[in-house]
Amino acid sequence: MRTRTQVGIVGAGPAGLLLSHLLALRGIDSVLVEVRSRAYCEARQRAGVLEDGSVVLLRDAGLAARLDRQGIQHGGIYLQFDGERHHIDFRALTGRKVTVYAQTEVVKDLIARRLADDGNDAIEFNVTGTEVSRLDTEKPRLSYTDASGVRHEVDCDAIAGCDGFHGICRPSIPAGMLTTWQRDYPYAWLGILADVPPSTDELIYSHHRNGFALHSLRSPSVSRLYLQVSPEEDIANWPDDRIWAELSRRFELPGWTLDSGPVLDKGITPMRSFVSAPMRYGRLFLAGDAAHIVPPTGAKGLNLALADVAVLAPALDALLHGDDKPASAYSATCLNRVWRSTHFSWWMTTMLHRTPGADEMEAQLQLSQLRYVVSSKAAATSLAENYTGFAALPPPAG
Ligand code: PHB
Repeated sequence: MRTRTQVGIVGAGPAGLLLSHLLALRGIDSVLVEVRSRAYCEARQRAGVLEDGSVVLLRDAGLAARLDRQGIQHGGIYLQFDGERHHIDFRALTGRKVTVYAQTEVVKDLIARRLADDGNDAIEFNVTGTEVSRLDTEKPRLSYTDASGVRHEVDCDAIAGCDGFHGICRPSIPAGMLTTWQRDYPYAWLGILADVPPSTDELIYSHHRNGFALHSLRSPSVSRLYLQVSPEEDIANWPDDRIWAELSRRFELPGWTLDSGPVLDKGITPMRSFVSAPMRYGRLFLAGDAAHIVPPTGAKGLNLALADVAVLAPALDALLHGDDKPASAYSATCLNRVWRSTHFSWWMTTMLHRTPGADEMEAQLQLSQLRYVVSSKAAATSLAENYTGFAALPPPAG
């Protein structure tokens, strides 16, 4: 079946979904395809921290009704090391805060809104055989087979690759056109979702000789916790009792206890830094994890994905009206923020994790850095301004 649209979008994660909505607000049609089912997209556990800029972006796009009711504002974090827990006060240092609201909830809100606005055709879930072609022409093509087995060839004015690190869009760019940078870390995160109220009023990032641990949350009654483990670790080796015992050890502090509860979900995530540039080839534009990955320690991945499409939507609008200038600037504009977040995420990660086989020198250097961050206003401000979002987002959709 031959059809046409203005923008073909591959991937119904936060980047692809928000882009289709921002384009719709500008009167631009899109076709959004996703290999997974709606249920899968709405259930997968991901990050949960939104910068103020991301919240404003979602609010200005009319997407924040539930976020404004259920999001939990946090004015800082705790850094724990060497048996001490220190508060970094984002509000006092930067005037900003962050909002804890799970990525899955952002995705649910976006899917509901797209389907409400444009009907069931707004998103094609469960597609197979997705291909993008003719990228160096003014009529790139998005091809896919829908859930009922019908093959579609969609002529577009532009295509957005929002299909994640393992997606098909980035590899569709001819060899030699992209420069990539990658670092795989020798550790992973074992994450759990637990049916127990958080034992803390702010997120706790803990440096421990057994490895890093993070206490986060999803709501007043659900906690999210992470443990540094080996990337080769098998989740089968981690019964719930062992996870709670290790979490208690890594967060141990006199006079404080970690409450445990039923584990609702658990999984292991590898940690990687990756950037590919430029984020455009011809009429294909990459956004979110398709173009860059950060380790989760800085809570930046979701914010970067949203920031990319906040730049991309107006750039595509201009391109469709004959002005290539913002589209030409898209990659450089985004990469400025991407590299800042890549550095910050790498810095947080290497300051807090224990490298397997590392000598005692690494631990002492990390402890010195942590002590500097909690005792110098300049150093604490640097962490706070990066964590809460350093670069301003472009003005909202007009
Ligand atoms: C989360 O709540 O899932 C979370 C919070 C902070 C991070 C990473 C993940 O740095």
